[in-house]
Amino acid sequence: MKKVKIAFGIALALGAGALGFAYSGLFNIAATARHDPVTNWLLTTTRNRSIEVRAQGIEVPNLEDEKLQLAGINDYDSMCTECHTAPGRVPSSLAKGLNPPAPDLAEESLDKPPEVLFWATKNGIRMTGMPAWGISHGDDEIWPVIAFLQILPDLDGEDYKEMLEEAQGMGHHAD
Ligand code: HEC
Repeated sequence: MKKVKIAFGIALALGAGALGFAYSGLFNIAATARHDPVTNWLLTTTRNRSIEVRAQGIEVPNLEDEKLQLAGINDYDSMCTECHTAPGRVPSSLAKGLNPPAPDLAEESLDKPPEVLFWATKNGIRMTGMPAWGISHGDDEIWPVIAFLQILPDLDGEDYKEMLEEAQGMGHHAD
C-alpha cells in the first residue's frame, strides 16, 4: 500500500511539473529553435517506427511502369517540390523555413521501401509540414509519385527537365 502511495505521489508530481512547464512559457516553440539531440532521436525513432508498423502489408503495384513514372513526375513537380525541391533547383523560401526540414526524397527513396514512402505521402506526418495527400487524392493518384521517387535518385537537373517535358499531358496534374 505504501508503495502504491509513493508511485501515486510521483505521478502527481510529474503531472504537476508538466502542467507547470506548459503554462510557464519556457518552451521555445519557434521554428528557428532546434531540438536537443535526445529529443530529436526520440521524435525521429517514434516517427520512423510509427510509419514502418503501419506500412506493413501495403500492396505495392508495378513501380517500373514508365507511364506511371511519367505521370508521377508531373504530380511530384506540382505537389512536392515547394518543400522537397527537385534536382537542379534551389530550395524555396518555404522549404528553408520548415522545422523539421523536408528531407531530400532522392536519398529517402534509396533508404526506405516504397510502401513506407506511400504511407507517409498518403497519411502525412502530424506536427510537421508534411500534409496528408490521401485526404484529397486517391491511392491511384499517389502511386505514380512513389513510382517516380524510385528513379529520382538517378536524375540530375537536366534529366529532370527533359523528363518533365516528356511527361506533358500525363498525371492528374497534367501540365
Ligand atoms: C508543405 C511542405 C511539404 C510538401 C508540399 C510535401 N512535403 Fe513531404 N515532408 C515535409 C516535411 C516537413 C517532412 C518531414 C517530416 C518529419 O521530419 O517527420 C516530409 C516528409 C516526407 C516523407 C517522409 C520521408 C521519411 O523520412 O520517412 C515523404 C515520403 C514525403 N514527405 C513525401 C512527399 C511527397 C511525395 C510530396 C508530394 C506529393 C510531399 N512530401 C509534399 C513537407 C512537405
